[in-house]
Amino acid sequence: MSYKTLLLEVKDHVAVVTINRPDKLNALNTQTINDLDSVLDTLKNENDIYAIIITGSGEKAFAAGADITELNKLDVVNAKEFSERGQAVFNKIEQSDKPVTAAVNGFALGGGCELALACHIRLASENAMFGQPEVNLGIIPGYGGTQRLARLINTGRAMEYILTGDMIDVNEAFRLGLVNRIYPADKLIENAKIMAGKIAIKGQQAIRYAMKSLRAVNEVSLKDGQKLEASLFALCCGTEDFKEGTNAFLEKRKPVFKNK
Ligand code: COA
Repeated sequence: MSYKTLLLEVKDHVAVVTINRPDKLNALNTQTINDLDSVLDTLKNENDIYAIIITGSGEKAFAAGADITELNKLDVVNAKEFSERGQAVFNKIEQSDKPVTAAVNGFALGGGCELALACHIRLASENAMFGQPEVNLGIIPGYGGTQRLARLINTGRAMEYILTGDMIDVNEAFRLGLVNRIYPADKLIENAKIMAGKIAIKGQQAIRYAMKSLRAVNEVSLKDGQKLEASLFALCCGTEDFKEGTNAFLEKRKPVFKNK
């Protein structure tokens, strides 16, 4: 499978999707959004792929935003469709039952920051820079940024960054909880793969149920979240992986999960 604006590498149950427009700092144009949509559909149906990493090509950028040459042509009518289209594709990432890690290797601005925010885990290189600079262009974030940034780092801080358009350097991003871990640039992908690999050797049914339960945090009350957790916990206990995991512990050996 090949894509005009993405590279796809699959190894050891982990897919690495690289946005490949380095001369435009991996700005997300319509083709890139369509390619992301399509690669997500493909990976969803690949039963042998357990984890996904998204990164950017080159050394400067994860993605420096939506493509401003396209933004420049928007009017009130097609801008709404534009925003909803990006939101729908990024929602697909958030709703994916395979963990998606953003390996942020440089600028993650505007739509690039929103792409990282939609991922389940964010790892970053020492030169990563985040930000929602849309107000500098006379617009607001349109791919979920106002909602996800506020939920992740709190509304007051999101107000500050979205209203000033200031960039957030990687240490500040770490302090804010925007990124989980920081690595030297040349070690970022290696470490993202190591983390994905750790997830890939677990029983995948448990991974899917844990993600489903965690995803509910932003959508339901604590009480309903706990009901969901109890139901999913119970479903885990009906799997072969549960028997294997608990038996392996008691027999003092490593589990071999069959994802059943
Ligand atoms: N859309 C379209 N093209 C973009 C882009 C974007 N979001 N971000 C960068 N590019 C292009 C530049 O136009 C330039 O193309 P050119 O070589 O054909 O002129 C190329 O990528 C390199 O960018 P450049 O600005 O020369 O790099 P820099 O290192 O001087 O600056 C940034 C890097 C990220 C600070 C700067 O590119 C920038 O501010 N980009 C826009 C960020 C933004 O507002 N994003 C939100 C959009 S909603």
